[in-house]
This record gives sequence, structure tokens and C-alpha cells, in this order.
Amino acid sequence: MDLDLLPDLYRDHVAELQRRYEPILAELGLDAVVLHSGSLKKRSEFDDQDWPLRPTPHFQHWLPLKEADCALVVAPGKKPKLLWRKTQSYWERPAEPEQRYFDACLDIEELPQIDDLRPHVPPGRIGFVGDEPALGVRWGLGADRYNYAHLIGRLDRLRVHKTPYEVACLAEANRLAAAGHEALRAAFRTGDLPELTLHLRYLEATRQDDSETPYKNIVALGHNAATLHHIHYGKRAAPKDVQSLLVDAGATFQGYASDITRTWLRGTGATASAFGHLVAGVEAMQLRLCAAAKVDLPYEELHEEAHRQVIDILQEVRIVRQPLDPDAARVVSRAFFPHGLGHSLGLQCHDVGCALVKPRLDNPYLRNTSIIAPGQVFTIEPGIYFVDFLMDQLRQGPQGPSIDWSLVTALAELGGVRIEDDLHITAHAGPENLTRPWLPVGGGS
Ligand code: GLY
Repeated sequence: MDLDLLPDLYRDHVAELQRRYEPILAELGLDAVVLHSGSLKKRSEFDDQDWPLRPTPHFQHWLPLKEADCALVVAPGKKPKLLWRKTQSYWERPAEPEQRYFDACLDIEELPQIDDLRPHVPPGRIGFVGDEPALGVRWGLGADRYNYAHLIGRLDRLRVHKTPYEVACLAEANRLAAAGHEALRAAFRTGDLPELTLHLRYLEATRQDDSETPYKNIVALGHNAATLHHIHYGKRAAPKDVQSLLVDAGATFQGYASDITRTWLRGTGATASAFGHLVAGVEAMQLRLCAAAKVDLPYEELHEEAHRQVIDILQEVRIVRQPLDPDAARVVSRAFFPHGLGHSLGLQCHDVGCALVKPRLDNPYLRNTSIIAPGQVFTIEPGIYFVDFLMDQLRQGPQGPSIDWSLVTALAELGGVRIEDDLHITAHAGPENLTRPWLPVGGGS
């Protein structure tokens, strides 16, 4: 991606957001909406430190500024107005934005403090979006009654269909994360580093602080990979016989997130060989599912297809020893693949707006129930795991005899497999893999 194009893409992005906001404001009878950048939250009521800011996504949709207590005023037909709070403090200073291409597209007013928004907004009904709804009232808008779910919900849905600017940022976030994954692949192959050191290596390779990653890095050696979000890093050197490493980690670029998982294997022997087949099977399935992510397909159908293919892989590896009827297959695949196939991705790792309807009852953790449409960006992340309590339940249930438990016990030492890429759905050419940009758009391999 040529980052020199960002200023032009950004200008078009702002024009597009203006076009998308206007009918929503008209429908809700609003003359303007104020988007708050976010508040610093105290880590505890009993001390005076704050968590790092997570900006309000509705604000960050307009500009890559990561500072607390700023506001953007959006009104039909007007250049968006940024009220940029500039405090003087010798304790802390927010990081300067990496690039200032947003200056040309916004009216910017610097203020030491925002106390009263009324001089900055047009007369009439003003909507307010922020993580503290009462702030709109404190800032003189009398707007708390307009901070209703409908406004937030409509604005959330606007983030589902990415503009070319957003796709460029997401692609760059993928490129940045790739350096971290490559560093950990190489480190695992040749060393016995603890999970904590691997995590720190990832941060170094991607030039991010822990608080800047889109979500806490998941770095899991061996059986720890059976905990889907393993974030309590071991501090001791990995035993020499650890044969697997699962890394689920991303990066951010201008607020946009990548979310990538890879599973690495080393060593020899029957168990490593069986696990290698499992990794290869999951990776091949993942690429098939990416290629199948076509416009107009319900995402949940892809999730169901993933479950069918999980059973095929379990049979190929001989974990499942006999044919299963469809009901039994649903139970078995959900024991080995207990999470959703993926989720919408954008300014938030789990962006909202693609989960407006509930999934089927046996897909409780599926976070994308949308109909696949151009402009969407989402993850495809199937997995197969050996989670102790799920294995125990399966063993004791009616499907228990169909499983080779000695093979499961051996493979459980390696925890599990997950392979995850980020897909952008193009209007005409099919899915574009942002994580593996060398693959042809449309899903070939
Ligand atoms: N990759 C972390 C998550 O999706 O929760």
C-alpha cells in the first residue's frame, strides 16, 4: 500500500461519512451531532492512575486522534469541526498524531478546556455520542435524551462498510502485524523462550507498546493453546519438548486493527506428525472458507460449513473413528471448535454492526450474523482445540465411543490450532485477503 495516497483517501473518506451522516440526522430530527473522543478511566477508585485511552469509535471513524475530551461537531453541509482540547501539564502529554493529513478536511479549534459546547454547535436539536452520556448535559447541550440507542446503533452500522481509506489502514495494520508473527515463528523454531519473552519480541518487531495493540496478545505454548485467550504469559523457559506455539496478535494503524492467528509446530514423532496434519488441515480449510466468503452469503452459513469441515479433518486425522450422523457431528464439532468463525473488524477488534441478529442457539459465540456485503472486513478463524472440560463432557456423552481418546490425550499436550486472516469483501472481485496480500483477490490460492 502506498501510504502517500492516504491524504487523498482520507479526504474522500470524510466526504463519504458526511454523505452517510446526513440522512441519519434528518431521520432523527437532529441539527448536528457531537462525538466525544472518550474519557480517561481510573484504574481503580482507590488510586489516581488512569487506563490508556480507548477512543470512542464514532469519533475515531472521522479522524485518527487518540486524545481524551476532544469533540467533533458534525452538521449537514458544514465542514466537521474539531474542538481539540490542549491542556498544559508537566505530568503527561498525549502523543502527537503520527500524521496531520486530517487538518485540511476539518475546522480545528484548540481549547484549553471544553466547558460549554453551545457556542460551537448550530441552534436546534443536538445529538451526543460519548462514553459518558451525562457529559453532553454538563457541556450545555441538554442532550442526554438524544443519546439513545437508535442514534448509536445507526452510527455503528455505518462502520460495517469500509471506505477505501479504511481498507488501506486495515491493510497496513496487517502488514505491521506480519513482522511480529514472523519474528515469533523464527524465535520458536530455534529457541526455548518463555511466553513473556515471545510477547515482548512481538511488541518489539511491531514497534508497539502493550497498550497500543488492538487486543492483548495471545501467546500460548503447548497445552496453553487450549485456552482460547491465553494472556497470562509464562515467565520460565519453555520445556525443550514443547512442540506447539499459537500466536493470536495484531497491530493498529491510524486506529484500525488487524487480528491474525498462526499456529507453529516443531519436533518429530507420531504426535507431532498427527498435529502437523491437523495444522495443515485447518489451514487448508481456512483458505477454502476465505475463498467461499462471497457477497450475499449469510456469514453464519460459512460458520456452519466450517463445522462440517472440522468433522472431515477430525476423521482424516483419525480422532473421529467412525461416520457420525448430522446431530452427532454437530455435538462433536462444537466440542473441538467452540467459538465463532469470525467477527467484523475495524476500529475495534470486535467491531459491532455485523451482529444485529442473534445466531442460532448452537452458535452462541458467533459475532457475525450479517449477510456478506461489499465493503465488509471480517476475520475467518477456524480452530480445533483440546479443552480439558469439553473433552471430558464429550467423553462421557453418547458420542464418546466414536473418539480415539488416546490420540486426543497425546494431542492435548499441544493445546490446539487456530489460523486467522482478515478479509475485505470487494464489490465485484470477491474476497481480498488483507493478511496474505499475495493471494489473488477472489480467493484462489
Ligand atoms: N483475536 C482475539 C479475538 O478475536 O478475541
